[in-house]
Amino acid sequence: MTEYATITLDDGRTMKLPIVKGTEGEKAIDIRALRAETGYITYDPGFGNTGSCRSRITFMDGEKGILRYRGIPIEELARRSSFVETAYLLINGELPTSDELIRTSVKLNDHSLVHEDMNTFYRNFPRASHPMGILSAMVNALRSFYPTLLNTEEEFEQTFLRLISKVRTMAALSYKISLGHNVEYPRPDYTYCTNFLHMMFNSPVRPYKVHRKLVKALNVFWILHADHEQNCSTSVVRSVGSSRANIYASVSAGISALWGPLHGGANQAVISMLENINENGATISQVLRKAKSKKDTFRLMGFGHRVYKTYDPRAKIMKKYCDDVLKKLNINDPLLNIARKLEEAALSDSYFADHNLYPNVDFYSGILLRAMGIPTNMFTVMFAIGRLPGWIAQWREHMTDPEQKITRPRQVYLGYNKRSYVSMEKRGIED
Ligand code: COA
Repeated sequence: MTEYATITLDDGRTMKLPIVKGTEGEKAIDIRALRAETGYITYDPGFGNTGSCRSRITFMDGEKGILRYRGIPIEELARRSSFVETAYLLINGELPTSDELIRTSVKLNDHSLVHEDMNTFYRNFPRASHPMGILSAMVNALRSFYPTLLNTEEEFEQTFLRLISKVRTMAALSYKISLGHNVEYPRPDYTYCTNFLHMMFNSPVRPYKVHRKLVKALNVFWILHADHEQNCSTSVVRSVGSSRANIYASVSAGISALWGPLHGGANQAVISMLENINENGATISQVLRKAKSKKDTFRLMGFGHRVYKTYDPRAKIMKKYCDDVLKKLNINDPLLNIARKLEEAALSDSYFADHNLYPNVDFYSGILLRAMGIPTNMFTVMFAIGRLPGWIAQWREHMTDPEQKITRPRQVYLGYNKRSYVSMEKRGIED
């Protein structure tokens, strides 16, 4: 039976609004008829209280620290799944059968090369270009190379596999080109993650031996980033798609949104903060004091989250893999020690407890990427590769949802009321 919320307006009129319920007990007031019936709109900058869709993809509970993809806890996926399998799950809704997984791997391999003509574009970006700008431009350019429309299931499958496979190759390619090195092609006998590390680090003069531990850590890193419901870049992908722009243009816009330091750029900011402590000799208590001061804009990077008001479940897993990889590979990164001490001190400080500030996924992820040898300016690209299955799954859900329309918020206008044009002559401008 439908439940209702009743609102009373200041002129005494009331309106009954239906309540929409989710499978995990969340409730939303359906305000779609509000403007037509009352003339009022809702005001919610940043959309912190606005549900933009009904989704079956990802569930998160910020109070309890829960994250599940298609119902499966992130902890289980990180422990038992691979990035490719998780991507399949997000996009198709179910875990693949053995045949489906083999078919997916074969197709990812088939699509893994980048059109040679694209290399011309790559080689002409200025050397100092940020890899996120290059990636966004090149993903948009894919539409010109692969103009197939997404009319059938088969065409959709081909397109999403092409994107997932090529984005990884394109990221490694841009790194090699930035070094002025020869491009390393993917190998058919390597898995998705192994191939990425191979394309990034193999060189004719220094053959790269892919370490099993790093492959697992990379799988986990990408699984943890694969989706996070209606975050900024995902909402952008949905919005662009809502105009019926093609999937490459939609994903390219998502990459641009992720580029921002308030979104995907935080892992890089954590490393800068830890390096600052390491190199400038600031003490932990000085850093915490600075983060707590209302006179200072500095924040403890990698701490706090808009939704999680407890320990980010992804951060717990990231921390474990970070410890494990550094230990097994005998890497002594002084930043890990600083991060541990900083976390311990912050968690026992009443300011952070009172503000519900806990480590988020970015607190340890940069240290893990450093251990893999990933350069700092590629950190956000690593996030983008991981988030791609989420963007594709959300884009598809949006395009097939009969309730969705072109995204078009309203506004509360605060500008001038009607006034007349003042002639050039009266403004002292000569004709
Ligand atoms: N260090 C110190 N204080 C912090 C803080 C941090 N990392 N994050 C939030 N706060 C404080 C704010 O100063 C504010 O304090 P006040 O209420 O006394 O004025 C309060 O906590 C709420 O902050 P607000 O900015 O309103 O929270 P938000 O939900 O909008 O912001 C983040 C969430 C993630 C943007 C924020 O926690 C942050 O900037 N974290 C650091 C950057 C980061 O790690 N980003 C990656 C996110 S995955």
